[in-house]
Amino acid sequence: MTTTAIINLDLPGPIISRHVYGHFAEHLGRCVYGGFWVGEDAKVPNVRGIRADVVEALRALRIPNLRWPGGCFADTYHWRDGVGPREHRPRMVNSHWGDVVEDNSFGTHEFLDLCELLGAQPYVSGNVGSGSVREMAEWVEYLTRAGDSPMAALRRAHGRDKPWRVPFWGIGNEAWGCGGNMRAEHYASLARHYSTFVRDQGDNKVYRIAVGPSDGDYAWTETMMRSFDDLAADPVAPAAPFQALSLHYYTMTGSWSDKGAATRFTEDEWYVALSRASLMEEYLTRHSTVMDRYDPHRKVGLVVDEWGTWWNVEPGTNPGFLYQQNTLRDALVAAVHFDAFHRHADRVVMANIAQTINVLQAVLLTDPDSGALVRTPTYHVFEMSTGHHDAASLEVHLRDVPTVESDGRELGLVSVTASTKDDGALVSLANLDIGSPAEVVLDLRGRTAQCRGARILTAPTPASHNTPHSPSAVAPAGFDGVREHPRGLLVELPPHSYLTAELQLT
Ligand code: AHR
Repeated sequence: MTTTAIINLDLPGPIISRHVYGHFAEHLGRCVYGGFWVGEDAKVPNVRGIRADVVEALRALRIPNLRWPGGCFADTYHWRDGVGPREHRPRMVNSHWGDVVEDNSFGTHEFLDLCELLGAQPYVSGNVGSGSVREMAEWVEYLTRAGDSPMAALRRAHGRDKPWRVPFWGIGNEAWGCGGNMRAEHYASLARHYSTFVRDQGDNKVYRIAVGPSDGDYAWTETMMRSFDDLAADPVAPAAPFQALSLHYYTMTGSWSDKGAATRFTEDEWYVALSRASLMEEYLTRHSTVMDRYDPHRKVGLVVDEWGTWWNVEPGTNPGFLYQQNTLRDALVAAVHFDAFHRHADRVVMANIAQTINVLQAVLLTDPDSGALVRTPTYHVFEMSTGHHDAASLEVHLRDVPTVESDGRELGLVSVTASTKDDGALVSLANLDIGSPAEVVLDLRGRTAQCRGARILTAPTPASHNTPHSPSAVAPAGFDGVREHPRGLLVELPPHSYLTAELQLT
């Protein structure tokens, strides 16, 4: 069967924010410690304690933002423990993740230094679960206030004169779960309360992100949306006191008690993973429908600040550290998510993969013994998609898509999205079929298009992955299978592959 993808190149839609390609770094396992942060005395080359190769790899992705310090950890974190001379910082127990001692050597200044090195915008998650309104208000003041104030003076005493810019702020995390097991009504009031004291200091405008739903919890979304004063009344006044809701959704093939293996999976589990990843599309559609009822002008953003695969940990590793390998299957899960984010560009303003290094669907893995850095297949999907950052989405209409039944749903095996910017267009195509190639005609309308080049990510087996010994088993390669066709272009996609084609438009 030949699939047709009809794309109207002259009808640009909403902008795909670069922030949907965002990241997440929690004090969990080896994400911060051993991932980003090795300390100034480490053998591995570092800049003020931050791994230099990690910075270089993430800059190549044009990492737009970084969420920190959690996750569940955020609601146990007291920021004052992580400022001032490192040798005087108190220790605490990271009760959520491995019950290990946290020495607070990576704190506020180290995180902001990291963001500056990366060229990424900070997204700080404040503590609602075990913190206070005052603690959160003072953290904002410490970070962002110029001039004279008690917190600005404390920051200066700790060596930083100029305030930082912190554009994104989380009002707690997973309040329905690890963030306090709250009822929606109770948290909705707290979100209004805390947000009020997360002040814009000078010209630092904060985008406040309240805890939204998990998966398909539409009732939570409904309660949060009902907590706004009339959003419909004024089409331009920004949403207040918070501006967005988060959404968390993880992909696994099993259940929370046995999530499935990262690298040893059956053909059936290949499709279950992709079918469950495709639920992101349904969740975005249905949460947006609820939001539209209260917010017809679409002022409240949806921030998918935790998404990705969650597998059983690698054998022999600390179960509380959530370390897992990452195969071509994870890469295609990422492609399915990005396609959903592109299609919902009018509502989804940000997304953060969980997590950047050594935890869950990491884009980078570090070897604790040799110190080697490995780029995962998921990394390459991020890198191949940078052309979508801040580009205008293009609607794609698919015809004759092969499907399989999996996990009680029909899964389309070909996924295509596109965007346009500066007389160019980028088309992403994924063939989710584990064993068969896919033929796709790009029926390009409205402008004349020429293919400037294409790149493909695939490998001999669907479970192929990268290790320190074989770091490029899955890596993008140039692709010459895009040919001219009377209606545009014809693409022959190998089984289990992801491809991007760059078009020149005239
Ligand atoms: O990303 C791992 C954990 O998953 C986060 O800490 C939490 O928010 C979610 O449950």
